[in-house]
Amino acid sequence: CQRRIDWNLFLSYIKKDEYVQLLSEIDALCQSAGCNAYIVGGAVRDYFLRMDSCDMDIVIEGNGMIFAKSLGEKLNYIVKTYEPFLTATMQLPSGQKIDFITSRKEVYLKPAALPIIIPAGLIEDLKRRDFSINSLAIQLNGRDKGRFYDLFGGLQDLKDKKIRILHDDSFLDDPTRIFRAVRYAVRLDFKIEKHTKSLIAKALAEKAVASLSSERLSNSFLSVLSEEKTAICMEELNRLGVLAEIFLQGSFSINELRKMDDDKIIRYNVLFESPGISCDPVLLKLLLFFFPCSLSDWQSIKRVLSFDKKYSHCVLQMIEYREKFMDTLQQSHLSPAEVYQLLRPLYTEVILCLLLACDHLQIERYCMMFLLDSQHIKLHVTGKDLLNLGIKPGEIYGIILKQVLAAKLDHKIVTYEDEIAYVRSLLENKFYQDLSE
Ligand code: CTP
Repeated sequence: CQRRIDWNLFLSYIKKDEYVQLLSEIDALCQSAGCNAYIVGGAVRDYFLRMDSCDMDIVIEGNGMIFAKSLGEKLNYIVKTYEPFLTATMQLPSGQKIDFITSRKEVYLKPAALPIIIPAGLIEDLKRRDFSINSLAIQLNGRDKGRFYDLFGGLQDLKDKKIRILHDDSFLDDPTRIFRAVRYAVRLDFKIEKHTKSLIAKALAEKAVASLSSERLSNSFLSVLSEEKTAICMEELNRLGVLAEIFLQGSFSINELRKMDDDKIIRYNVLFESPGISCDPVLLKLLLFFFPCSLSDWQSIKRVLSFDKKYSHCVLQMIEYREKFMDTLQQSHLSPAEVYQLLRPLYTEVILCLLLACDHLQIERYCMMFLLDSQHIKLHVTGKDLLNLGIKPGEIYGIILKQVLAAKLDHKIVTYEDEIAYVRSLLENKFYQDLSE
Protein backbone atom coordinates (compact mmCIF):
# COMPACT_ATOMS: atom_id res chain seq x y z
CA CYS A 1 0.00 0.00 0.00
CA GLN A 2 1.63 3.28 -1.10
CA ARG A 3 0.27 6.73 -0.31
CA ARG A 4 1.70 10.15 0.20
CA ILE A 5 2.01 12.07 3.41
CA ASP A 6 1.66 15.84 3.63
CA TRP A 7 5.36 16.78 3.32
CA ASN A 8 4.97 20.22 4.89
CA LEU A 9 3.11 18.73 7.84
CA PHE A 10 5.94 16.20 8.21
CA LEU A 11 8.54 19.00 8.18
CA SER A 12 6.62 20.92 10.81
CA TYR A 13 6.49 17.76 12.95
CA ILE A 14 10.26 17.40 12.65
CA LYS A 15 10.54 20.93 14.04
CA LYS A 16 14.32 21.24 14.27
CA ASP A 17 15.92 23.34 11.52
CA GLU A 18 18.98 21.12 11.37
CA TYR A 19 16.76 18.11 10.52
CA VAL A 20 14.92 20.06 7.82
CA GLN A 21 18.24 21.11 6.28
CA LEU A 22 19.55 17.54 6.50
CA LEU A 23 16.49 16.15 4.70
CA SER A 24 16.97 18.64 1.88
CA GLU A 25 20.68 17.68 1.58
CA ILE A 26 19.73 13.98 1.56
CA ASP A 27 17.34 14.65 -1.33
CA ALA A 28 20.07 16.47 -3.29
CA LEU A 29 22.69 13.79 -2.66
CA CYS A 30 20.28 11.01 -3.71
CA GLN A 31 19.88 12.77 -7.02
CA SER A 32 23.64 13.02 -7.69
CA ALA A 33 24.42 9.55 -6.27
CA GLY A 34 21.49 7.86 -8.01
CA CYS A 35 20.02 6.19 -4.92
CA ASN A 36 16.90 6.41 -2.75
CA ALA A 37 16.56 7.38 0.90
CA TYR A 38 13.77 6.61 3.35
CA ILE A 39 13.02 7.40 6.91
CA VAL A 40 11.95 4.13 8.53
CA GLY A 41 10.91 2.73 11.90
CA GLY A 42 10.41 4.63 15.14
CA ALA A 43 10.35 8.16 13.71
CA VAL A 44 7.58 7.28 11.21
CA ARG A 45 5.62 5.42 13.88
CA ASP A 46 5.91 8.39 16.25
CA TYR A 47 4.99 10.84 13.48
CA PHE A 48 1.67 9.07 12.97
CA LEU A 49 1.14 8.98 16.72
CA ARG A 50 2.14 12.66 16.91
CA MET A 51 4.62 11.77 19.59
CA ASP A 52 8.11 13.20 20.04
CA SER A 53 10.70 10.87 18.59
CA CYS A 54 14.33 10.89 19.63
CA ASP A 55 15.67 8.67 16.86
CA MET A 56 15.93 9.14 13.13
CA ASP A 57 16.89 6.06 11.11
CA ILE A 58 17.58 6.69 7.43
CA VAL A 59 17.63 3.69 5.11
CA ILE A 60 19.60 4.08 1.89
CA GLU A 61 18.82 1.90 -1.11
CA GLY A 62 22.49 1.85 -2.05
CA ASN A 63 25.51 1.98 0.28
CA GLY A 64 24.47 3.69 3.52
CA MET A 65 28.04 4.10 4.77
CA ILE A 66 29.35 5.80 1.60
CA PHE A 67 26.21 7.95 1.49
CA ALA A 68 26.63 9.10 5.10
CA LYS A 69 30.35 9.79 4.58
CA SER A 70 29.75 11.98 1.50
CA LEU A 71 26.97 13.82 3.28
CA GLY A 72 29.16 14.30 6.35
CA GLU A 73 32.01 15.69 4.22
CA LYS A 74 29.66 18.11 2.51
CA LEU A 75 28.08 19.37 5.72
CA ASN A 76 31.20 19.04 7.82
CA TYR A 77 29.50 16.67 10.28
CA ILE A 78 31.25 13.81 12.07
CA VAL A 79 30.38 10.37 10.66
CA LYS A 80 31.37 7.02 12.18
CA THR A 81 30.99 3.88 10.07
CA TYR A 82 30.38 0.30 11.26
CA GLU A 83 31.67 -1.86 8.40
CA PRO A 84 30.36 -5.28 9.57
CA PHE A 85 26.83 -3.86 9.89
CA LEU A 86 26.98 -1.61 6.78
CA THR A 87 25.74 1.30 8.86
CA ALA A 88 26.99 4.76 9.83
CA THR A 89 26.14 7.27 12.52
CA MET A 90 26.21 10.99 11.84
CA GLN A 91 26.53 13.50 14.63
CA LEU A 92 24.73 16.80 14.05
CA PRO A 93 26.05 20.05 15.61
CA SER A 94 23.36 19.82 18.32
CA GLY A 95 24.84 16.45 19.35
CA GLN A 96 21.84 14.56 17.94
CA LYS A 97 22.82 11.31 16.20
CA ILE A 98 21.28 10.01 12.98
CA ASP A 99 21.76 6.43 11.78
CA PHE A 100 22.25 5.60 8.12
CA ILE A 101 21.50 2.00 7.24
CA THR A 102 22.25 0.15 4.02
CA SER A 103 18.94 -1.30 2.93
CA ARG A 104 19.24 -5.06 3.59
CA LYS A 105 17.87 -8.50 3.90
CA GLU A 106 18.80 -10.45 7.02
CA VAL A 107 19.46 -14.20 7.11
CA TYR A 108 19.51 -15.95 10.48
CA LEU A 109 21.75 -19.03 10.40
CA LYS A 110 21.25 -19.76 14.11
CA PRO A 111 18.44 -18.67 16.46
CA ALA A 112 19.33 -15.75 18.72
CA ALA A 113 22.63 -15.07 16.91
CA LEU A 114 23.28 -11.93 14.88
CA PRO A 115 22.07 -12.32 11.27
CA ILE A 116 24.06 -12.26 8.04
CA ILE A 117 23.40 -9.01 6.20
CA ILE A 118 22.83 -8.94 2.45
CA PRO A 119 22.24 -5.57 0.71
CA ALA A 120 18.73 -5.54 -0.81
CA GLY A 121 15.89 -3.19 -1.77
CA LEU A 122 13.50 -1.32 0.54
CA ILE A 123 10.80 -4.00 0.44
CA GLU A 124 13.20 -6.66 1.78
CA ASP A 125 14.37 -4.16 4.37
CA LEU A 126 10.85 -3.60 5.61
CA LYS A 127 10.14 -7.35 5.70
CA ARG A 128 13.08 -7.98 8.08
CA ARG A 129 11.68 -5.69 10.75
CA ASP A 130 10.17 -6.54 14.11
CA PHE A 131 6.60 -5.22 14.22
CA SER A 132 4.10 -3.85 11.73
CA ILE A 133 4.14 -0.46 13.49
CA ASN A 134 7.93 -0.28 13.01
CA SER A 135 7.87 -1.24 9.34
CA LEU A 136 6.48 2.05 8.00
CA ALA A 137 8.65 4.13 5.67
CA ILE A 138 8.57 7.56 4.04
CA GLN A 139 10.61 8.31 0.93
CA LEU A 140 12.86 11.34 1.27
CA ASN A 141 13.98 12.04 -2.29
CA GLY A 142 13.01 12.85 -5.84
CA ARG A 143 9.55 12.96 -7.29
CA ASP A 144 8.41 10.29 -4.84
CA LYS A 145 9.34 12.41 -1.85
CA GLY A 146 6.66 11.93 0.80
CA ARG A 147 5.57 8.53 -0.53
CA PHE A 148 4.52 6.40 2.35
CA TYR A 149 5.10 2.62 2.51
CA ASP A 150 2.91 0.44 4.69
CA LEU A 151 3.33 -3.18 3.56
CA PHE A 152 2.05 -4.94 6.67
CA GLY A 153 -0.92 -2.91 7.88
CA GLY A 154 1.17 -0.91 10.35
CA LEU A 155 -1.04 2.15 10.15
CA GLN A 156 -4.14 0.09 10.94
CA ASP A 157 -2.29 -1.49 13.89
CA LEU A 158 -1.39 1.99 15.13
CA LYS A 159 -5.10 2.83 15.04
CA ASP A 160 -6.04 -0.47 16.71
CA LYS A 161 -3.22 -0.08 19.26
CA LYS A 162 -1.71 -3.46 18.43
CA ILE A 163 1.81 -4.84 18.53
CA ARG A 164 2.00 -7.40 15.73
CA ILE A 165 5.01 -9.44 14.62
CA LEU A 166 5.69 -9.79 10.88
CA HIS A 167 6.50 -13.49 10.65
CA ASP A 168 6.25 -16.57 12.86
CA ASP A 169 10.01 -17.16 13.37
CA SER A 170 10.75 -13.58 14.34
CA PHE A 171 11.06 -14.14 18.13
CA LEU A 172 13.15 -17.28 17.60
CA ASP A 173 15.47 -15.47 15.18
CA ASP A 174 15.76 -12.47 17.45
CA PRO A 175 14.49 -13.03 21.02
CA THR A 176 15.41 -9.43 21.96
CA ARG A 177 12.13 -8.61 20.17
CA ILE A 178 10.23 -10.10 23.12
CA PHE A 179 11.56 -7.26 25.27
CA ARG A 180 10.84 -4.79 22.47
CA ALA A 181 7.22 -5.99 22.18
CA VAL A 182 6.67 -5.40 25.88
CA ARG A 183 8.42 -2.01 25.85
CA TYR A 184 6.28 -0.71 22.98
CA ALA A 185 3.07 -2.16 24.43
CA VAL A 186 3.65 -0.41 27.75
CA ARG A 187 5.10 2.82 26.36
CA LEU A 188 2.34 3.32 23.79
CA ASP A 189 -0.39 1.69 25.85
CA PHE A 190 -0.94 -0.92 23.10
CA LYS A 191 -1.85 -4.61 23.37
CA ILE A 192 0.37 -7.41 22.12
CA GLU A 193 -1.88 -9.09 19.57
CA LYS A 194 -2.98 -12.68 20.36
CA HIS A 195 -0.97 -14.58 17.73
CA THR A 196 2.12 -12.49 18.55
CA LYS A 197 1.67 -13.39 22.23
CA SER A 198 1.44 -17.08 21.38
CA LEU A 199 4.69 -16.79 19.40
CA ILE A 200 6.37 -15.25 22.45
CA ALA A 201 5.20 -18.23 24.51
CA LYS A 202 6.53 -20.62 21.85
CA ALA A 203 9.90 -18.88 21.75
CA LEU A 204 10.14 -19.00 25.56
CA ALA A 205 9.24 -22.70 25.56
CA GLU A 206 12.17 -23.20 23.20
CA LYS A 207 14.45 -21.32 25.63
CA ALA A 208 15.07 -18.54 23.10
CA VAL A 209 15.80 -15.83 25.68
CA ALA A 210 18.30 -18.03 27.50
CA SER A 211 20.21 -18.56 24.26
CA LEU A 212 20.93 -14.84 23.77
CA SER A 213 24.50 -13.69 24.34
CA SER A 214 24.98 -11.95 27.68
CA GLU A 215 25.70 -8.67 25.89
CA ARG A 216 22.44 -8.71 23.91
CA LEU A 217 20.44 -9.89 26.93
CA SER A 218 21.92 -7.14 29.11
CA ASN A 219 21.19 -4.48 26.49
CA SER A 220 17.58 -5.67 26.26
CA PHE A 221 17.28 -5.65 30.04
CA LEU A 222 18.80 -2.16 30.34
CA SER A 223 16.53 -0.85 27.60
CA VAL A 224 13.55 -1.92 29.74
CA LEU A 225 15.08 0.00 32.66
CA SER A 226 15.35 3.05 30.38
CA GLU A 227 11.60 3.07 29.79
CA GLU A 228 9.54 5.47 31.86
CA LYS A 229 7.14 2.79 33.07
CA THR A 230 9.73 0.18 33.96
CA ALA A 231 7.73 -1.51 36.72
CA ILE A 232 4.79 -2.15 34.38
CA CYS A 233 7.16 -3.52 31.71
CA MET A 234 8.69 -5.87 34.28
CA GLU A 235 5.25 -7.02 35.44
CA GLU A 236 4.38 -7.90 31.85
CA LEU A 237 7.73 -9.65 31.31
CA ASN A 238 7.07 -11.57 34.50
CA ARG A 239 3.56 -12.55 33.42
CA LEU A 240 4.93 -13.78 30.10
CA GLY A 241 7.52 -15.90 31.94
CA VAL A 242 10.54 -13.98 30.63
CA LEU A 243 11.98 -13.03 34.03
CA ALA A 244 11.77 -16.63 35.25
CA GLU A 245 13.92 -17.60 32.26
CA ILE A 246 16.69 -15.27 33.41
CA PHE A 247 16.53 -14.80 37.17
CA LEU A 248 16.04 -16.97 40.24
CA GLN A 249 12.81 -16.33 42.14
CA GLY A 250 13.51 -14.00 45.07
CA SER A 251 16.55 -12.40 43.48
CA PHE A 252 14.58 -9.44 42.12
CA SER A 253 11.70 -7.24 43.18
CA ILE A 254 9.16 -5.49 40.97
CA ASN A 255 7.63 -3.96 44.11
CA GLU A 256 10.82 -2.02 44.81
CA LEU A 257 10.81 -0.75 41.22
CA ARG A 258 7.29 0.61 41.71
CA LYS A 259 8.83 3.09 44.14
CA MET A 260 10.25 4.85 41.10
CA ASP A 261 6.74 5.37 39.71
CA ASP A 262 6.03 9.03 39.23
CA ASP A 263 3.43 9.48 41.95
CA LYS A 264 5.61 7.85 44.61
CA ILE A 265 8.82 9.63 43.68
CA ILE A 266 7.24 13.09 43.87
CA ARG A 267 8.07 13.50 47.55
CA TYR A 268 11.75 13.04 46.70
CA ASN A 269 11.78 15.61 43.90
CA VAL A 270 13.80 17.89 46.13
CA LEU A 271 16.59 15.28 45.85
CA PHE A 272 16.25 14.51 42.15
CA GLU A 273 16.04 18.14 41.18
CA SER A 274 18.83 19.36 43.41
CA PRO A 275 21.73 20.61 41.24
CA GLY A 276 24.30 19.11 43.61
CA ILE A 277 22.96 15.59 43.17
CA SER A 278 23.44 13.67 39.98
CA CYS A 279 21.63 10.38 39.66
CA ASP A 280 21.58 7.88 36.79
CA PRO A 281 17.93 6.71 36.85
CA VAL A 282 18.71 3.47 34.97
CA LEU A 283 21.28 2.55 37.61
CA LEU A 284 18.88 3.43 40.41
CA LYS A 285 16.21 1.19 38.87
CA LEU A 286 18.76 -1.62 38.47
CA LEU A 287 19.58 -1.36 42.18
CA LEU A 288 15.92 -1.31 43.24
CA PHE A 289 15.15 -4.29 40.99
CA PHE A 290 17.97 -6.31 42.57
CA PHE A 291 17.35 -5.03 46.10
CA PRO A 292 16.56 -8.50 47.53
CA CYS A 293 19.42 -10.16 45.65
CA SER A 294 21.91 -12.19 47.74
CA LEU A 295 25.61 -12.24 46.97
CA SER A 296 25.39 -15.75 45.52
CA ASP A 297 22.31 -14.80 43.42
CA TRP A 298 24.30 -11.86 42.08
CA GLN A 299 27.19 -14.15 41.10
CA SER A 300 24.72 -16.30 39.10
CA ILE A 301 23.12 -13.22 37.50
CA LYS A 302 26.56 -12.02 36.41
CA ARG A 303 27.02 -15.27 34.50
CA VAL A 304 24.05 -14.39 32.24
CA LEU A 305 24.12 -10.59 32.21
CA SER A 306 27.15 -8.39 31.76
CA PHE A 307 27.08 -4.87 33.15
CA ASP A 308 29.74 -2.20 33.04
CA LYS A 309 32.09 -1.84 36.02
CA LYS A 310 30.23 0.98 37.76
CA TYR A 311 26.88 -0.82 37.57
CA SER A 312 28.32 -4.07 38.96
CA HIS A 313 30.21 -2.24 41.66
CA CYS A 314 27.06 -0.39 42.75
CA VAL A 315 25.01 -3.59 43.02
CA LEU A 316 27.74 -5.17 45.14
CA GLN A 317 27.90 -2.06 47.32
CA MET A 318 24.13 -2.11 47.75
CA ILE A 319 24.16 -5.79 48.77
CA GLU A 320 27.04 -5.22 51.17
CA TYR A 321 25.48 -2.15 52.83
CA ARG A 322 21.87 -3.32 52.87
CA GLU A 323 21.95 -5.08 56.27
CA LYS A 324 24.50 -2.80 57.89
CA PHE A 325 22.70 0.27 56.73
CA MET A 326 19.23 -0.80 57.82
CA ASP A 327 20.38 -1.81 61.30
CA THR A 328 22.58 1.19 62.03
CA LEU A 329 20.55 3.94 60.44
CA GLN A 330 17.34 3.00 62.18
CA GLN A 331 18.86 4.36 65.38
CA SER A 332 17.70 7.86 66.21
CA HIS A 333 20.77 9.25 67.95
CA LEU A 334 23.33 9.42 65.14
CA SER A 335 25.09 12.74 64.68
CA PRO A 336 25.52 14.26 61.20
CA ALA A 337 29.22 13.37 61.37
CA GLU A 338 28.41 9.71 62.11
CA VAL A 339 25.91 9.60 59.25
CA TYR A 340 28.55 11.19 57.01
CA GLN A 341 31.08 8.47 57.85
CA LEU A 342 28.51 5.79 57.08
CA LEU A 343 27.23 7.21 53.78
CA ARG A 344 30.32 8.86 52.32
CA PRO A 345 31.74 5.68 50.73
CA LEU A 346 28.47 5.05 48.86
CA TYR A 347 27.47 6.02 45.33
CA THR A 348 24.55 8.49 45.25
CA GLU A 349 22.39 5.89 43.47
CA VAL A 350 23.10 3.34 46.22
CA ILE A 351 22.03 5.85 48.89
CA LEU A 352 18.86 6.68 46.95
CA CYS A 353 18.11 2.99 46.50
CA LEU A 354 18.49 2.30 50.22
CA LEU A 355 16.40 5.36 51.02
CA LEU A 356 13.56 4.25 48.71
CA ALA A 357 13.72 0.57 49.56
CA CYS A 358 13.94 0.95 53.35
CA ASP A 359 10.90 3.25 53.49
CA HIS A 360 11.78 4.30 57.06
CA LEU A 361 11.40 7.86 58.33
CA GLN A 362 14.63 7.97 60.31
CA ILE A 363 16.65 6.57 57.40
CA GLU A 364 14.97 9.05 55.06
CA ARG A 365 15.95 11.92 57.36
CA TYR A 366 19.59 10.80 57.55
CA CYS A 367 19.89 10.28 53.78
CA MET A 368 18.30 13.62 52.97
CA MET A 369 20.62 15.35 55.44
CA PHE A 370 23.67 13.71 53.86
CA LEU A 371 22.68 14.27 50.23
CA LEU A 372 21.38 17.82 50.59
CA ASP A 373 23.74 19.14 53.22
CA SER A 374 26.63 17.15 54.71
CA GLN A 375 28.24 15.91 51.50
CA HIS A 376 28.57 19.51 50.24
CA ILE A 377 30.27 20.84 53.38
CA LYS A 378 33.90 21.73 52.70
CA LEU A 379 36.70 22.73 55.08
CA HIS A 380 38.42 26.10 54.76
CA VAL A 381 41.39 25.10 56.88
CA THR A 382 44.25 23.47 54.95
CA GLY A 383 47.55 21.72 55.59
CA LYS A 384 49.27 25.08 55.17
CA ASP A 385 47.28 26.46 58.11
CA LEU A 386 48.33 23.49 60.24
CA LEU A 387 51.97 24.13 59.29
CA ASN A 388 51.56 27.81 60.26
CA LEU A 389 50.24 26.66 63.62
CA GLY A 390 53.56 24.83 64.09
CA ILE A 391 52.27 21.28 63.61
CA LYS A 392 54.82 18.92 62.05
CA PRO A 393 53.49 17.31 58.81
CA GLY A 394 52.52 13.68 59.19
CA GLU A 395 49.65 11.34 60.01
CA ILE A 396 48.34 13.94 62.48
CA TYR A 397 47.18 16.22 59.63
CA GLY A 398 44.57 13.70 58.46
CA ILE A 399 43.41 13.06 62.01
CA ILE A 400 43.01 16.78 62.82
CA LEU A 401 41.23 17.63 59.54
CA LYS A 402 38.83 14.74 60.08
CA GLN A 403 38.02 16.07 63.56
CA VAL A 404 37.47 19.60 62.25
CA LEU A 405 35.18 18.26 59.54
CA ALA A 406 33.21 16.25 62.10
CA ALA A 407 32.73 19.40 64.23
CA LYS A 408 31.65 21.32 61.14
CA LEU A 409 29.18 18.62 60.06
CA ASP A 410 27.70 18.66 63.55
CA HIS A 411 27.33 22.46 63.16
CA LYS A 412 29.56 23.15 66.20
CA ILE A 413 31.72 25.44 64.06
CA VAL A 414 30.98 27.47 60.92
CA THR A 415 33.65 29.96 59.79
CA TYR A 416 37.37 29.70 58.94
CA GLU A 417 38.18 31.41 62.24
CA ASP A 418 36.05 28.80 64.07
CA GLU A 419 38.02 26.06 62.34
CA ILE A 420 41.40 27.52 63.34
CA ALA A 421 40.18 28.01 66.92
CA TYR A 422 38.95 24.41 66.92
CA VAL A 423 42.40 23.15 65.79
CA ARG A 424 44.01 25.18 68.59
CA SER A 425 41.59 23.66 71.11
CA LEU A 426 42.47 20.15 69.88
CA LEU A 427 46.15 20.92 70.39
CA GLU A 428 45.48 21.59 74.07
CA ASN A 429 44.71 17.89 74.34
CA LYS A 430 47.73 15.73 75.26
CA PHE A 431 46.81 13.11 72.66
CA TYR A 432 47.28 15.64 69.83
CA GLN A 433 50.33 17.19 71.46
CA ASP A 434 52.06 13.78 71.54
CA LEU A 435 51.14 13.08 67.93
CA SER A 436 52.32 16.45 66.70
CA GLU A 437 55.78 16.17 68.19
N1 CTP B 1 14.50 -3.28 14.52
C1 CTP B 1 14.06 -4.57 14.35
N2 CTP B 1 14.44 -5.55 15.22
C2 CTP B 1 15.26 -5.26 16.26
C3 CTP B 1 15.72 -3.94 16.45
C4 CTP B 1 15.31 -2.96 15.57
O1 CTP B 1 13.31 -4.82 13.41
N3 CTP B 1 15.63 -6.22 17.10
C5 CTP B 1 14.08 -2.24 13.54
C6 CTP B 1 12.68 -1.68 13.79
O2 CTP B 1 12.11 -1.41 12.54
C7 CTP B 1 12.95 -0.39 14.52
C8 CTP B 1 14.26 0.07 13.90
O3 CTP B 1 14.97 -1.14 13.60
O4 CTP B 1 11.92 0.55 14.29
C9 CTP B 1 15.09 0.96 14.77
O5 CTP B 1 15.34 0.32 16.01
P1 CTP B 1 15.41 1.13 17.37
O6 CTP B 1 16.17 2.38 17.16
O7 CTP B 1 15.87 0.18 18.42
O8 CTP B 1 13.89 1.41 17.70
P2 CTP B 1 12.90 2.57 17.30
O9 CTP B 1 11.82 1.97 16.46
O10 CTP B 1 13.62 3.74 16.76
O11 CTP B 1 12.17 2.87 18.66
P3 CTP B 1 12.67 3.57 19.98
O12 CTP B 1 14.08 4.03 19.76
O13 CTP B 1 11.68 4.65 20.14
O14 CTP B 1 12.58 2.52 21.04
